Amino acid sequence: MLVSATEMLNKAVSGKYAVGQFNINNLEWTKAILATAQENNSPVILGVSEGAGKYMTGFKTVSAMVSAMVEEMGITVPVALHLDHGTYEGAYKCIEAGFSSIMFDGSHYPIEENIAKTKELVKVCHEKGISLEAEVGSIGGEEDGIIGAGEVADPKECKMIADLGVDFLAAGIGNIHGKYPANWKGLDFDALANTKSLVGDLPLVLHGGTGIPADMIRKAISLGVAKINVNTECQLYFQEATRKYIEEGKDLVGKGFDPRKLLAPGFEAIKVIVKEKMELFGSVGKA
Ligand code: 13P
Repeated sequence: MLVSATEMLNKAVSGKYAVGQFNINNLEWTKAILATAQENNSPVILGVSEGAGKYMTGFKTVSAMVSAMVEEMGITVPVALHLDHGTYEGAYKCIEAGFSSIMFDGSHYPIEENIAKTKELVKVCHEKGISLEAEVGSIGGEEDGIIGAGEVADPKECKMIADLGVDFLAAGIGNIHGKYPANWKGLDFDALANTKSLVGDLPLVLHGGTGIPADMIRKAISLGVAKINVNTECQLYFQEATRKYIEEGKDLVGKGFDPRKLLAPGFEAIKVIVKEKMELFGSVGKA
């Protein structure tokens, strides 16, 4: 059964660790992440961007696949199925499709409109036991064609959104999606501490988990980050392992062309990086 992410993230705040959100693209991705969470007794959040949802033919397909996989694999750790950077329309589609958690990214709207739409979605989600993540201050980099400038969120705006009853909040602190440029200034911990002082125990979300050095991750967790999103890093691990398999000519040997063999190294590579992140975030054994 899928669960909302509220309880697992509130526990993470009090236990001073973070739960990973790992984005999924297909069956292999989902299976690798679920298996790793179970093996490490860790709660987990499966993130689905609108683009990935479309790729998998729609949110209903994703929801049916994930729910069935949790059952067929005998997964007992808490699993939340979460819309990542959802539009207003996408949020409603996922609520209907059976997602257990929604991110409504209203960061590109004027703050008044972000507030109005977030408030409405908090009510709709909570009536159905679904958790809601909101965003203030756009995350830099590119994700599914949405390009953010990597702003640092205004702590006062964070407080305004937090007061709407959202379950967790993504506040931009100089983080970006994808690889970090060589001249990246690092996370803005002052902004994070200011936001934390205003929102209290509300779990904070760190997007753009790929490539943030381990010491910065630990410091962010100590300052109230309880959910960390990782996407690109799994893609890079998958790519590298798959490239190696082909370059070594393994697809040309015997039944090496069988997709179940061809995709196996990438599958194993995702398991390696997900386990590493769960250890760094401190969620191992916390299911
Ligand atoms: P990365 O692709 O940089 O890991 O970011 C993932 C993310 O924040 C998804 O919302």
